[in-house]
Amino acid sequence: MTEASAALENLPSSIPEGYQLRKEGKATILQQGNDVFFNPAQVVNRDLSVLVLQQFQQVRKEEGTLKAPGRKFKAKVAQQAEAQPDGLRVLEGLAASGLRSFRYALEVEGVRRVDANDMDADAVNNIRQNCAWNTSVAGKVVPTQGDARILMMQNELAYDAVDLDPYGSPNTLLDGAVQAVAEGGLLMITATDMAGQPLTRPPSPPHCMLHPLQVCP
Ligand SMILES: C[S@@+](CC[C@H](N)C(=O)[O-])C[C@H]1O[C@@H](n2cnc3c(N)ncnc32)[C@H](O)[C@@H]1O
Repeated sequence: MTEASAALENLPSSIPEGYQLRKEGKATILQQGNDVFFNPAQVVNRDLSVLVLQQFQQVRKEEGTLKAPGRKFKAKVAQQAEAQPDGLRVLEGLAASGLRSFRYALEVEGVRRVDANDMDADAVNNIRQNCAWNTSVAGKVVPTQGDARILMMQNELAYDAVDLDPYGSPNTLLDGAVQAVAEGGLLMITATDMAGQPLTRPPSPPHCMLHPLQVCP
């Protein structure tokens, strides 16, 4: 049985009333009504993010889990390495339906944990339900509810990869993102429905900036 069909097997045998089945990549989730944001056209963006995270994981595997830290970060990074066993810890700060987080958990080898966070209660309840249904990723996708900016500020150097996908400009999230991403980590930033990112010209489709981040000592 493939991982994708295994994920499907774990969902309820009949779709509960008011829910829709959404299948993308190896993930299958159920979504209730249209209360929680989901944009099918962003499949290309999610595909790209999965590919980049796969490549990042491969590079990490070849290099060893952590690059040699600079002096300033040495103590913290050593602490972090001790606290975190092997495997990537990923944050999807604005997860909405959580589909992207489920895809990371199912499609990227070596992902240890994906924190699927959203400030909207309906979104987080939807992610929780899908965690219960997708037992093949049980414990890997962890739903949390809160403002991503605060979450990131409170979790300094905690994540190997941080994915942010706000409506419009990501500017207010960047400060927290660079605090939360670990030494040599990956920052993946999308701006859904935004006409133009810095350095691009409107009108243009949603953008995807995928930045490998090297924190300087
Ligand atoms: C464009 S959607 C995310 C789509 C999702 N990443 C995907 O791939 O399908 C933006 C989400 O951000 C959430 N949101 C907006 N501001 C937030 C914040 N400061 N902290 C956490 N979530 C936030 C909204 O509730 C919404 O669900």
